[in-house]
Amino acid sequence: VNVGVLGLGKVGLVLACTLAYYGKHTVFGMDLESADKVQKRRNVFPEPIPPADILITADIRHLVSSVDILYVCVATPHNNPRLDGTHTSWVVPEDFDYEQLNTALRTIAAATNALKREITVVVLSTVAPGTFNKGLRGLANKYMRLVYSPSFISLGTIQKNLMEPSCILVGEDRKNGRPSVAVDIRALWAPVVGPSLKMYVTTIEEAEIIKMTSNFLQSYKIELMNAVAQMCDYTGANVDNVSGALANVLNHGWIPRAGLPDGGACRPRDAVVLDYVADEAFVGWNPFRELRQARTTNMRYHASYAAALAKEHKLPIIIVGMTYKPGVVYTDGSPGVFLHNMLTEMGYESRIVDVSAASFRNKAVYVWALDAALDGQRYAKGSVVYDPWGTTLTGSGDQQGVVYVRPGRREE
Ligand SMILES: NC(=O)c1ccc[n+]([C@@H]2O[C@H](COP(=O)([O-])OP(=O)(O)OC[C@H]3O[C@@H](n4cnc5c(N)ncnc54)[C@H](O)[C@@H]3O)[C@@H](O)[C@H]2O)c1
Repeated sequence: VNVGVLGLGKVGLVLACTLAYYGKHTVFGMDLESADKVQKRRNVFPEPIPPADILITADIRHLVSSVDILYVCVATPHNNPRLDGTHTSWVVPEDFDYEQLNTALRTIAAATNALKREITVVVLSTVAPGTFNKGLRGLANKYMRLVYSPSFISLGTIQKNLMEPSCILVGEDRKNGRPSVAVDIRALWAPVVGPSLKMYVTTIEEAEIIKMTSNFLQSYKIELMNAVAQMCDYTGANVDNVSGALANVLNHGWIPRAGLPDGGACRPRDAVVLDYVADEAFVGWNPFRELRQARTTNMRYHASYAAALAKEHKLPIIIVGMTYKPGVVYTDGSPGVFLHNMLTEMGYESRIVDVSAASFRNKAVYVWALDAALDGQRYAKGSVVYDPWGTTLTGSGDQQGVVYVRPGRREE
């Protein structure tokens, strides 16, 4: 299959290379940046990226005349950078900014019109529920078959997520007995994903809501278990046993380990957009706003706890973990940065270090801001280890002369 990717950024470049390398497709790419710059960026890319050749063009007509399916992966940012999930004070919800996406679709429309060529245009960029109805659909012309196929990927693990998707979600308009585009999309992804490939084909309106609700559910479960952890502290229960029972005995599906609020800029930003759309749609109960507030309340609880320990033991606070999850370099929406900002706002000093730069040689309150505290890690005697995920509990025993605090985990 000849496929194109418009927008070779953090997501688009990995998508293009994955389709070329594992799918053995001929992949054309285009970006606002020159081919040279994109190639250079590839050499220092912050996550695994397959070593495939893609044909980068600067000419939209060349791109449109070369492909049957064109993915659009331009950014849909927020204008207010404080909405990335690392800030504390309340920010009024707002929709994503669709300027890049609108421009991209207009450009594709002009090219298809000039060439009188029909192609399938798959929008992968994240959009809010209702966005296609509000404007995107109107930007397409009769030569463009518009599809919304948001993928369930996370920055740092994009290639893996693309190759092992729980499903490929396809939202399309079915008109005039036209065959579904699913056949073409399956042909594209089958060689990449293999026989386990599952697809869910639905309307664009439903795909918009499924994508966002899926992200919301994950964040919501995280905040729910974080709230339950505080209740466990109150009653003397252990939150890990509670989550274990919910997941494995009562079969409630994925139950996260209680810890700090959900990180990564994507899910916090999706909650902002859902909050915005819920207001617009006069939805009576707005759980999306509650989720946003819960992240802040939950982080304030941990910040207060860490600050109280620092005061009691007369120690500085060192936050360990700058990235948004273990094993990635991205700091977008990082819980550690959020905690650091929260402590500053509350008037407490703290220092934040990346795990790789943490020495643990000085006496301090070490706050693990990643679900990756090392079991058996040695700390300076007299230190306090504040471990929200309880991951220092895995077996080698606590170091003598060090105080361990694991919120939500009762210890005899
Ligand atoms: N599903 C997820 O969990 C998930 C995760 C990450 C990102 N995303 C979404 O994927 C989309 C892309 O995100 P990203 O992080 O790759 O953004 P990015 O800013 O890294 O990349 C966007 C690229 O598009 C290019 N571009 C913009 N307008 C263009 C145009 N008219 N023609 C050609 N190129 C153009 C830019 O130069 C840039 O290189 C966003 O909507 C984002 O929300 C989703």
